[in-house]
Formats: sequence, C-alpha cells, structure tokens
Amino acid sequence: MATKQPKHRGIRDRLMALRLSRNLTSNMLAQLSGLTHTTIRQIESGRTVPGVDTVEKLANALGVDACWFTFGHPEAAQHPVQALIAPDFHPIQLVAELRALLSGRSGHIDDTYKYLDPIGAAQFQELHQQADFADEVFTIPIRDIAAEVGRLVGETPLDLLGLGVGSGDHEVKLATKLGKHPDMRLLMLDISLPLLAEAAQNAIKRLPPARKIPVLCILGNFHQLPAYSFLESQGPRRHLVTMFGYTFGNLENEVRFVRNSLSWLSSGDLLLLDVDCAVAPAADSALIMKRDRALSKEGAPAWLGQVEEFLTGPIWRYGSGVRDVSVTRTLDIHSTPVPNSYAIDIRAQVESASGRKEFSIGYTKRYDIHGLAACMKKEQWHLVQHWSYAEGRSMVCLFEKREAEKAVRSPKRRIAKE
Ligand SMILES: C[S@@+](CC[C@H](N)C(=O)[O-])C[C@H]1O[C@@H](n2cnc3c(N)ncnc32)[C@H](O)[C@@H]1O
Repeated sequence: MATKQPKHRGIRDRLMALRLSRNLTSNMLAQLSGLTHTTIRQIESGRTVPGVDTVEKLANALGVDACWFTFGHPEAAQHPVQALIAPDFHPIQLVAELRALLSGRSGHIDDTYKYLDPIGAAQFQELHQQADFADEVFTIPIRDIAAEVGRLVGETPLDLLGLGVGSGDHEVKLATKLGKHPDMRLLMLDISLPLLAEAAQNAIKRLPPARKIPVLCILGNFHQLPAYSFLESQGPRRHLVTMFGYTFGNLENEVRFVRNSLSWLSSGDLLLLDVDCAVAPAADSALIMKRDRALSKEGAPAWLGQVEEFLTGPIWRYGSGVRDVSVTRTLDIHSTPVPNSYAIDIRAQVESASGRKEFSIGYTKRYDIHGLAACMKKEQWHLVQHWSYAEGRSMVCLFEKREAEKAVRSPKRRIAKE
C-alpha cells in the first residue's frame, strides 16, 4: 500500500530543523510563538498547511526571514536599497539656470541639464535600448574588469561609487561580478531622478540576492562631490569610482574635474573611465574628418539622429519662442584639455522670436591612450590597464591613485637657510 506523502515537506523540514537546532521542544516553541503545541506538531508532521499569520509567528519566534522560511529561497528584493538626496541639491534651481542660459544668445549646455526631466531621461533610455546602440555599449568587458579590480583590492572593504550611473546597468553588472567580495557597498549617484529610480530597480532585480550587497542611490551633482562628507569612509575602505557611458569625455574640462571633484580620494583608490578612442592623431584633422563616424559623410550610425533629438530637447522644452533648431557637428582640435585628444562639438543653431542664437549642445572627446595616461599621471592617477571594445572605438581605462610623497624639508636644511 502506498504511504501518503506529507504535504509541504520543505516548511515542515525547516521548522523541525530550526526547532531542534535551538534545543526547543514543541511546547517551548508554542510559548515563544503564541501558537498551540498541537499546531506545531501538525505542521511538522505535514498534516497542516500553515497560514500567513502562523508562518510569521513561527519565523519571528525562530528569528528567521519569513520568506525564506516559507519558500526556502530568499526574497527577490532582499538588497537593502536606500536613497539619499545630497545636500544642496536643487533641481528646480538647475532648471532656472538652464532657462537663463537659453535666454542668452549663446553658450554651452552642460550634461548636468539634459537628463533632469523625465522626457530627457526617457529619450536617453530609449536610445540605450535601441539594438545597434546597445550592441556597442554592452560589449564592455565587465568580467575582465572585475577580475582586475578584484586582484587589486583583494579583501579590503570596497565602495563601488558610480558617477552619472544612468540606469546603472554597468555598475550593477560590475557589482555582480565582484559579488564574492566580502564587504562591498554599491553607491550610485546621478542628477536625474527618473534614471536613478531605474538604477535602484535594476539593483533590486539583478544583484545576487544571497550576497545582500548594500546599495545607496544618491540624487546629487558630481561636481559637488567634495562636499558630500557622507561618502567618506570610516576605517580602511577603498573606493572604485566609475564613469561609464562616456560621461567623463562629455565634461567640459575633465582634467579640472579630476583635480577639483575627485581630490578627496586617497592612494590606492581606483578610477574606471569609459571613453571614446581617437580614430587618428589629433594633429591630422583631414584624417579625423574622414574616419570619425560623427563627422564623416558616410558611415554615421542610425542612432546619431536620436542623439541629436535628445540633445536639442532642452532647447525646445526650456527655451522661449523657439521656431527652428538645426544641428552641425564640428571638429575641435584646439581647446581640449587632454593632449592628443580632440572633441566633436555638436552645435545647435536656433531660430527664435528674439533672433538667431547658437549653443554648444554636446562636447564629446576622443582620446589617445598615451595622452590620457600622461595627463592623468600628472593628477596622480596612474594607468593600470585598459580594455578596448566596440571594434576599438571605445575603451575602459583603469587608474589607481598614487599620491606623490609630500616633499619634507629636512630640519637641517631649514636651519641652514635660516
Ligand atoms: C552619458 S550618460 C551615461 C549614463 C550611464 N553611465 C551609462 O553608461 O549609460 C550621463 C549620465 O550622467 C548623469 N549626469 C550628468 N551630469 C551630472 C552631474 N552633474 N551630476 C550627476 N550626474 C550627472 C546623467 O543624468 C546621465 O545619467
């Protein structure tokens, strides 16, 4: 005769194992949980299916997660994801600044303003999800990068701080690959609330649940980083600062950004920059014009039109009396701060009720690895390794901060001078 299999074997086993491991009789557990010992015996024998209230009472009494107790696997959203609004972060003030800029006749629209509203954020997200654009940006060799970072940091507590994370795809992937690290936090900073919300959802969905990596989403401005004292770590934590998605090369002056906004980082901290590569020496403008996809007549990728729509969006939304906007892309080899690099200056000619205006709406740099490494070295950031991807059009560069020994004058010499 076939014996009747008890139902809900999993929860029954977990209950019995936990009770015995805590040296509790069913009477003792009944007292702790507020249930009767009959209920407990019936669950353990598989004769009763516990309801939600009963499960919660038992999980509380045994000091375990109710979801794990019920299903035997962790809750999907187990990561402690927290959000923080950085001090002095005033998006409405940023909108006022943008309006003031657009009321003038010319100027540069910094990236800071383009993702603020949900329309800009959504356009960027659509661009990201477009197949041929995604094909390029998602070939970043995250696994190799994680292996190198893992080798450098070992088991030292680590803060992975993503700057301008957008929807956080790369940072979440990197944190996942670094998931074996025993003490890591993921901090994601962005100026755009809609994109940061996506990043938080991404972390909740994709980070390995068992690892419980603490996640902090920070709504703030990366130009104000030195004022964010909450980023300073207590004890020996290393930082891995990332800037994916060409965010570094889009800065108006990236060298001064490193000097002014990343100066609080210490020796041993790491900086990961995802940048576009120069297609020809910066001195050879004819060759650049021929080879660079943003400038050459042929070979411009289809998504470039979408980029222009995204870049001109703020003019239409925040400018007044705008009638027409046209876009030109020009080569700038004169005013880029990193030697041997050049920039694509995307400029918008605006017809408005108050006359003709012109704005630089995108300023994106292409780098030569030697020029970038030499320049960063002067800022105390030493190139450790770089990985090229997207058929050599882009690269991710890993730098380590090594502070120069402070020159200490010997007392003897000082006395001699005096
Ligand atoms: C080019 S997108 C890159 C996004 C993302 N890292 C990626 O790889 O897709 C630039 C990101 O930087 C953010 N950003 C721009 N200026 C910023 C600022 N001043 N402070 C913080 N985030 C900023 C934007 O909201 C946007 O998410």
